[in-house]
Amino acid sequence: MKVTSSEIVISAVRPDQYPDTDLPEFALAGRSNVGKSSFINKMLNRKGLARTSSKPGKTQTLNFFLINESLYFVDVPGYGYARVSKSERAAWGKMIETYFTSREQLRACVLIVDLRHPPTSDDVMMYDFLKHYEIPCIVIATKADKIPKGKWQKHLKVTKETLDLDPNDDIVIFSSETGEGKDKAWAIIEKYM
Ligand code: GTP
Ligand code: MG
Repeated sequence: MKVTSSEIVISAVRPDQYPDTDLPEFALAGRSNVGKSSFINKMLNRKGLARTSSKPGKTQTLNFFLINESLYFVDVPGYGYARVSKSERAAWGKMIETYFTSREQLRACVLIVDLRHPPTSDDVMMYDFLKHYEIPCIVIATKADKIPKGKWQKHLKVTKETLDLDPNDDIVIFSSETGEGKDKAWAIIEKYM
């Protein structure tokens, strides 16, 4: 996909704040600091459109990005960040659950994991949640630039096995530093549009 326009439309926490549209939507999910917002920026060729940080917990709301007036990416706060209170975690859970279980135009979840390490128990829980609700999943194994290319396939295998990846779900080796996997990720997203 050639991205000719992209803009942030709204930061939402409640369904009545979601954009009133029926364009296809793709929502990010993944551990805090794994690289969800960086993925969005790389896919859109926009350096600072989605706010990123070296500290976890940067994204706090559901941020809707309109692309080419024809689809949305939804940036989502990450999970697994230890330094949040019980009540904050509960609020996060409610917001995520409401969005993923009620948003009809959601075509697929883009689940971002770190290619360097096996998926965490939180990653497995998130993936199982998505499968329970029969939400198609595009797994993006990111930060590939941080390990030698010769090790990619071995790490990919561990990622697939740990998630018990559904054969219908695609998985892509990615890097927001180098752009590795970007064309493949777009081709898969277009398949779901
Ligand atoms: P939260 O909003 O806190 O949930 O985090 P996030 O998942 O949106 O992560 P974010 O995109 O803010 O990235 C976190 C850190 O990882 C930043 O310092 C990024 O520069 C870095 N990062 C993200 N993707 C990559 C990548 O592919 N390669 C490398 N080397 N660094 C990356
Ligand atoms: Mg973020």
